[in-house]
Amino acid sequence: MVSLEQHLTDAACDEKLKELILLLSQQAKPIKDAFVENQDYAGTTNMHGDNQMELDKWADEHLIKILRESQLIKTIASEEQEDIIEVITPDNSGFGVTLDPLDGSSLIAVNLAVGTIIGIYGNGDVLEKGKNMKAAAYILYGPLTVLVYTIKNGVHEFVLNDSGEFVLLRENITMPEGKLYSPGGLKKDHTEKHAKFIQKLEENGHKLRYSGSFVADFHQILRYGGIFSYPALKEKEDGKLRLLFEANPIGFIARQAGGEVSTGLKDILEITPTSIDQRVPIYVGNKSKIKDLEEHMKEDMKDEKEELRGVYDDE
Ligand code: AHG
Ligand code: MN
Ligand code: MN
Repeated sequence: MVSLEQHLTDAACDEKLKELILLLSQQAKPIKDAFVENQDYAGTTNMHGDNQMELDKWADEHLIKILRESQLIKTIASEEQEDIIEVITPDNSGFGVTLDPLDGSSLIAVNLAVGTIIGIYGNGDVLEKGKNMKAAAYILYGPLTVLVYTIKNGVHEFVLNDSGEFVLLRENITMPEGKLYSPGGLKKDHTEKHAKFIQKLEENGHKLRYSGSFVADFHQILRYGGIFSYPALKEKEDGKLRLLFEANPIGFIARQAGGEVSTGLKDILEITPTSIDQRVPIYVGNKSKIKDLEEHMKEDMKDEKEELRGVYDDE
């Protein structure tokens, strides 16, 4: 079996980046072990207004502590922290890391799959375009604990075995054309344009698969194909998901797997962030669907039938 370490070595990964990815991968087990004792709400909210779970805080504090001590990191931005954390390193260099320590945390109490989402930037800054990432990864805590990573060498999936080691499960994953759809946001809050797009997906035989954990919902889109959306809403034009912590790393992985990511109007990975808590409408999935979606979103509302022309030409 090929270990994650061997895989990174074979990919000629930069030594420091390899060290960092392995260090982060080693935190999957302690985080998973912390589930049992951290099942409740913490009674606090983060800067996004989310009610924090004990596990959100545990994973956040744990990862920050490990990264601080690593001497590999210059800056850390976490979904659970209000400010960017600057770490003093001997030569004032190091990576910039973004963390969604625990994604899908409302599902902890019902034992559904949740994850950790990681973005890694090379020059110590995190307020950069997503396309500038050096690496992105997520860990998904489900019946299996898996880790999916890219260092712009394709997308690869590893599984945590009984010896506590991540070993290769699937290599060079490409997203197949598929008919799953994961529509975030309350239906009553969907814009007319978005609602029409969703309606057309439904008419076209797409199957609803939405859990409330972005990382888990994306994982099935990666495997089976389709489209995940958390769109602009009537009263919240930036939607819900966060550019730095969720949209960029997952979008980066999607593109590496041959998929695409968009706000509906433009490429998410081209956005220069203005703040760490920036939100962004997101569509991520099959390239052909994203292309058709963008055409649909940009078209005039004059003729509804004409407006949806071409949305499914790929099928
Ligand atoms: P987090 O648990 O990190 O706050 O993220 C929750 C996000 C994301 O995982 C998911 O796609 C979305 O919020 C679910 O939101 P809804 O409850 O509105 O469906
Ligand atoms: Mn999240
Ligand atoms: Mn989170």
